[in-house]
Amino acid sequence: MKIGVVGLGYIGSVTAGVLAEAGNEVIGVEIDQKRLDAFKSGEPPIYEPGLKELFGNNKSRLVFSSDYKELTDVEVVFLAVPTPTENGKINLDYVFQAAESVKAVNGRAILVIKSTVVPGTAKKINAKMDMIVVSNPEFTKEGTAVDDTRAPDRVVIGGSDQKALSSVERIWAFTKAPVLKTTNENAEMVKYASNSFLATKISFINEIANLCEKIPGCDVETVAKGMGFDKRISPYFLKAGIGYGGSCFPKDTSALQAFSREIGSPVTIVEAAIEVNSERTQRIVDLLKSEFKEPFSGHTVGVFGLTFKGDTDDTRGSQALKLVEALKSVGFKINVYDPMAKITPERTKRYKTKEECADDSDAIVVATDWGEFKTLSVKDKLVIDAKRILDPTKFNKFKAIGLYG
Ligand code: UDX
Repeated sequence: MKIGVVGLGYIGSVTAGVLAEAGNEVIGVEIDQKRLDAFKSGEPPIYEPGLKELFGNNKSRLVFSSDYKELTDVEVVFLAVPTPTENGKINLDYVFQAAESVKAVNGRAILVIKSTVVPGTAKKINAKMDMIVVSNPEFTKEGTAVDDTRAPDRVVIGGSDQKALSSVERIWAFTKAPVLKTTNENAEMVKYASNSFLATKISFINEIANLCEKIPGCDVETVAKGMGFDKRISPYFLKAGIGYGGSCFPKDTSALQAFSREIGSPVTIVEAAIEVNSERTQRIVDLLKSEFKEPFSGHTVGVFGLTFKGDTDDTRGSQALKLVEALKSVGFKINVYDPMAKITPERTKRYKTKEECADDSDAIVVATDWGEFKTLSVKDKLVIDAKRILDPTKFNKFKAIGLYG
């Protein structure tokens, strides 16, 4: 099938690559010229394991362009453009602009919405554009997005045009994943409910972590392990830490909060999850404040990790970056080390190795779960494990989220 993908961010680029691998002819449309050039040169502008190889192996079926006219004769167009939140509320401008641009060149195409949009959006696009609109939310995680897209846990397809639903179902048939065919609104809601549930699970275990810190003999890691054996609970998304970040959970939970309030049915539990998450970095700041004497400008904290999680170069919604800002605001000097982050926060000193960063700091906070941090060896200074990836027995002065003492 000939398929268009509009917006080559983390989701669009992986979708384009995997659909080409499945045998489709794919046209990727990206309006940012710098990003487009990177895709054309075979060096994707984002780091996602397996993506470069995916493009390289399927280049005969992949075309990249900034021109919507390339979509004139495609049957299906996936929209994977950003849906940022502004003051907590979702901004759908990019989705509508992209849909209009597709309509201008090809009004017969089936529009498939991959972007996360609040329930009712597909219907609005359909009404405004008079095009068939199918909702097909994305559940991939950064770092494993290629494999997640090849073999998702489920494929959710929403819409009212049965022929269009079947076309989209056929596109994903190679994944062999269970398919839920439903209304646009249900599909849109599945995405918000899933991400908000996972975010709530993380905030829940983070509150248990707070409790554990006050009870001698308690460690949230062991508590979570004990809980996770129960199949109804499952061991996933029960890792306590510095709080959830990234481009999805913070954005989707606040968009659901604003949307649910707007329609007069606030999701109290999600609001609580947001509240709990917003307090995570301050706990680390308070801990450091209690360890050092004022003025804090006389002490240097080494923050390990700037990305929102390990194995990615993505710093969007990073709790580690929030921590850096919060520590700076009370006066601490900041050293940073991250193997891949593309940005370095202002008024911080970036190091090329974790050893140098540790040597030059008075205390170290592990803020991102990069695998290489596990081999950290520091004997004489305070190490705070905000991601619970270190072995406490290896350190003399050690504090960790969810661990008493
Ligand atoms: C998430 C969803 O998992 C995915 O289904 C959706 O499509 C997009 O959002 P992603 O943002 O890539 O994916 O990262 P994920 O691995 O889910 O982690 C999100 C955040 O939660 C990270 O900051 C991570 O460190 C944190 N997290 C995750 C925890 O603090 N504890 C956990 O147990 C799991």
